[in-house]
Amino acid sequence: MLPLHGQARVTVPDRSKDYHDYVFKDGKLVGDFEGMYRYSEEVPWHQDANAFDTIADIDIAILKRHRFDRICDVGCGLGHFTARMKRELVGPCGQPSEVVGLDVSPTAVERAGALHPDCRFAVGDLLSPDWPTTRPAVASGYDLVVMRGVLWYVVQDLGTALARFAGLARDGGAALVTLSFPPSRTWVGQDTIGSQDELHRHLSTVMDIAYWCVERDAKHGGVPLCHAFGPLRPVDGRPRP
Ligand SMILES: C[S@@+](CC[C@H](N)C(=O)[O-])C[C@H]1O[C@@H](n2cnc3c(N)ncnc32)[C@H](O)[C@@H]1O
Repeated sequence: MLPLHGQARVTVPDRSKDYHDYVFKDGKLVGDFEGMYRYSEEVPWHQDANAFDTIADIDIAILKRHRFDRICDVGCGLGHFTARMKRELVGPCGQPSEVVGLDVSPTAVERAGALHPDCRFAVGDLLSPDWPTTRPAVASGYDLVVMRGVLWYVVQDLGTALARFAGLARDGGAALVTLSFPPSRTWVGQDTIGSQDELHRHLSTVMDIAYWCVERDAKHGGVPLCHAFGPLRPVDGRPRP
């Protein structure tokens, strides 16, 4: 049984073949990310493959047009995309000097650290009531903050999550956010993010979206997949974390 940020309690099986069981069940957000990384028999979201698909390549292509030295990847999971940024992006003096991944699941963080020793990983929950004191052992002031595929899991307090995400960056820093929409006509979080336009509006509270791309990849059922990139709003022009 799982209490999560005021969400309904839902029973999750101890072991499941289907990682979705730990995320959404019966039209509710379960959000047992730690249980999922510990017990799911398949790799959640098939991250080991998806971090190298066209969607991820588009993100790398967007980011490659700029130089970033210090990068923070929020909701990094197993860190496969985090590690791509370290290897493939260019900072002012070669490889980015610091690439850090944060995730709510300690198991994900531990595995990411073992898989990608060239990056640093730490536990961080965007919705923790104790933020920023429980903010991971990372500084803020990043040149780039990234959040791929995370917003549906923090939708219950989206304003706080976005403000904290943006607050990890330095003044003048940039953000990349991606999110795919579900194939169904109704979905959890629809009240808050009911359309691509609404997603654009929410993101615009913290960033100036300079690049917006909606892609439909048949591999992912042809669902709309939004990529937003641009500078964060100046600190005094955006909501406080
Ligand atoms: C769809 S996965 C994305 C993983 C990775 N960003 C990628 O692109 O492969 C979503 C991730 O968000 C993490 N997450 C969910 N809620 C979170 C929160 N409140 N704070 C930080 N991370 C969270 C989950 O543990 C999971 O690893």
